Amino acid sequence: MKKNVTVVILAAGLGTRMKSRKAKVLHQAGGDTLLNHIVRAALRVAEPERIVAVVGHQAKEVQASVKVPGVRFAVQAEQRGSGHAALCAREVIRDAVGLGDGLLLILNGDGPLLRPETLTALVDAANNAQLGGAIVTTHLADPTGYGRILRDSQGRVAAVVEQKAANPEQLSIHEVNPGLYCFHSDLFWQHIDEVAPNNPAKEYYLTDMVEILARHGHPVLPLPIADETELLGINTRVELALADQILRSRKTRELMLAGVTIENPGSVTIDVDVEVGMDSVLEANVQLRGRTRVGAGCRICAGTVLRDCEVADDVTILPYVVADEALIGAHASIGPFTRLRLHAEAGEGSHIGNFVELKKTKLGKGSKASHLAYLGDSNIGAGVNIGAGTITCNYDGQKKHQTEIGEGVFVGSNSTLIAPLKIAGGAYIAAGSTITTDVEADALAVGRARQVAKPGWAKRRRQLAQS
Ligand code: UD1
Ligand code: CA
Repeated sequence: MKKNVTVVILAAGLGTRMKSRKAKVLHQAGGDTLLNHIVRAALRVAEPERIVAVVGHQAKEVQASVKVPGVRFAVQAEQRGSGHAALCAREVIRDAVGLGDGLLLILNGDGPLLRPETLTALVDAANNAQLGGAIVTTHLADPTGYGRILRDSQGRVAAVVEQKAANPEQLSIHEVNPGLYCFHSDLFWQHIDEVAPNNPAKEYYLTDMVEILARHGHPVLPLPIADETELLGINTRVELALADQILRSRKTRELMLAGVTIENPGSVTIDVDVEVGMDSVLEANVQLRGRTRVGAGCRICAGTVLRDCEVADDVTILPYVVADEALIGAHASIGPFTRLRLHAEAGEGSHIGNFVELKKTKLGKGSKASHLAYLGDSNIGAGVNIGAGTITCNYDGQKKHQTEIGEGVFVGSNSTLIAPLKIAGGAYIAAGSTITTDVEADALAVGRARQVAKPGWAKRRRQLAQS
């Protein structure tokens, strides 16, 4: 089926009711933009090269927000209605695949809850040479704002009447147009120029195509969909929040059905592209964002926030870990209260404990940094122990410098490691040292003042204070 379907996504509008400086389709729900959700669904029925997004408001930003290679764009410089928006895609489609070919699926850009199965069903419904096409319809308890579906005597769609143009009798119709259309391409392009702005808003209504095609003897079939939540169009931030909630509960459901345990699923925030392996457990208030991937058999404890992280199998992440772009090896144990950022890497079986921050640092296999440390721009080998309070001084006020720590090194507590610095394998750093020069393999480095002992000093001081 993928072969002959071309998709046009209408995404040029500003979305006045969002009360935003940002174009509506750039707003996010469920961890991605409204537009990307629709592109994701469209990819199930068409190749990327046959998907055209019509952009207008903030065209550059909207275009940049679509990450799927191959998707095409058409510009609608002035927003003169959904019919005019579709028309703006004509040249791009003519160049890409021609206008005579297959089916043309046109989708409103503001309906992120759309399921791919509905698009497949719509394409199937339209795939009958006797028809002009098919459109999705649904029944709403409150149809205000939507185009109403007028049926002919044979139950086909005779016309779609917009709210502003409808008479009282038409306003009482509860079957509405959610903005998902599939037309026969040749018929659509043959008749699109007949759409005229003869309505109170002086806009070119795409919905007029239904009546135009019917008039030319190409009736349009309705495809009624019962689940109206799928068809929610986003116009305000209230609807945006509702869409977010629905997308997130779909995501947790999908993960749970795939073998992930989620405690208090309503409390977690998991973006649409996140992957979690079987038998992993997510505790309450966990956030997994961006392209985070968690392996199998992991436990992610309460309050942890991971963005764009790769977590291997059987990892334990204790409460309140905040990590961005981190790589965590199998069987590692992280947290509580650990901060990992900018490609921090925790080796297999390593342990990073409370109040430890890693930045652009690799901690080797089985190494430990259990408490209170800052490790930046460092490459730390396997089997290393980093004592509590260790600081890599990676920044001299102008530049960042590297610290290299070899295999099996023991760094005593409260060490200050002044980069650039190399500590070779097997060396010991005495607690409390300030290390400024490289340390050779298996050496002991002590960099602190020798202790001075003054017997009786304290007692004399107390006696002086009393006299
Ligand atoms: C539209 C439908 C209405 C339907 C409703 C469902 C029309 C005339 N009416 O109304 O029947 O019930 O959607 O949500 O289409 N757009 C452009 N360029 C424009 C105008 C709109 O790209 O010049 C895009 C918008 O970005 C949006 C879509 O088209 O994604 C629909 O436009 P919108 O203004 O939201 O139409 P509605 O009034 O909601
Ligand atoms: Ca709308």
